[in-house]
Amino acid sequence: MDPDATHLWIHANLLTFDRAKPHCGLLKDHALAVRGDTIAAILPTDSPEVRAFKGKITDCRGKFITPGFIDCHTHLVWGGSRALEWEMRLSGVPYAEIAKRGGGILSTVRSTRSMTEEQLVEASLPRLEALIREGVTCVEIKSGYGLTLEDELKMLRVARRLGERLPIEVSPTLLAAHAVPPEFAGRTDDYVSLIQHEIIPAVAKERLADAVDVFCETIAFTHEQCHRIFASARMNGLAVKGHVDQLSNSRGAELVAWHNGWSADHLEYLDDAGALALAKAGTVAVLLPGAYYFLREKQKPPVEALRAAGVPIAVATDLNPGTSPFASIRLAMNMGCVLYGLTTDEVLAGVTREAAWALGRADRLGTLEVGKQADFLVWDVTHPAEIVCQLGTNIIPERVFRERTCQPQT
Ligand code: NIG
Ligand code: FE
Repeated sequence: MDPDATHLWIHANLLTFDRAKPHCGLLKDHALAVRGDTIAAILPTDSPEVRAFKGKITDCRGKFITPGFIDCHTHLVWGGSRALEWEMRLSGVPYAEIAKRGGGILSTVRSTRSMTEEQLVEASLPRLEALIREGVTCVEIKSGYGLTLEDELKMLRVARRLGERLPIEVSPTLLAAHAVPPEFAGRTDDYVSLIQHEIIPAVAKERLADAVDVFCETIAFTHEQCHRIFASARMNGLAVKGHVDQLSNSRGAELVAWHNGWSADHLEYLDDAGALALAKAGTVAVLLPGAYYFLREKQKPPVEALRAAGVPIAVATDLNPGTSPFASIRLAMNMGCVLYGLTTDEVLAGVTREAAWALGRADRLGTLEVGKQADFLVWDVTHPAEIVCQLGTNIIPERVFRERTCQPQT
């Protein structure tokens, strides 16, 4: 064992998410050693090195340890509320109709534009704290409610500040192509040009985002417009991902795969050709059952086709004020099982190993492996399925983020 290891967790059941092993890569009664912010060793608890260890020891008494959870798709920075729109939807008005009347994304754009960076930080903190309480140690945060150069930069700065305020890693994403802003109504191509030639280069220059996202849909941006945006992203050194094939099949998944994207998200209307394209490119399918639930959709993503093609599947909250207003990764996992028919092993891998791939961070995060970042969770459960089925309880006695133990705040 690494002689400089400082802290050892013993008698743990480790869910390593080693892809070569079945059942989440379970290692029974093992010890995990940490040095600085890195996992230094993984050994059976009864090995001589563990017995000889002289540093700090935590006895897990058979509890489970997983990597820190990764919520790889959120829009958690926003202003205002869309609760009244939700009531309208309950009474039968469709999401697309509300959007056409100037509500939906554009109503959040109005509120978000009117707020300062500090106000947006304050509004967003409770949502991020809720995710942290459930074991999230890395979160993706999209812009997309600013839709001007200044307001998109503002949102991305808020995302960065949130990561400085709380013990969590933030992966920021530019989503300027979320909706056509009112001042560009009827001139979508001009707005796309602004994104290509001004917003993306400015964001890349200030290193405010890791990736560029789009909403490729009949009510948003066409395949061709998204192609132009992705080309600009790649020229500026940013990764690409997309909200694709959510409400109709616009061949969005193929487009993301063609650009070697990190992830294709939603995918309710994905077909076999799309699934094969994702598999070939190694693009992760990010499933968002919360939006499906809140929109009362009928069309489910083709889970069987994704499995058959060997596409890695991640699961995320899609936390946003309109289609997915809940800050609970465990509820998203539960919905992945109940609504989409995923297995508990699949959703657990979907918020760890596969979510790390979806954020281009698989070299550092997502599995318990020597050399990876010491972000992990101790779970007070007798079986991993309890993490997914038993909601609302605090069953994480210890959350370790880069070696610092941060008790989930209550
Ligand atoms: O992921 N599909 C587009 N974007 C969001 C919805 C955002 C909103 O309604 O504010 C989504 O579902
Ligand atoms: Fe989304």
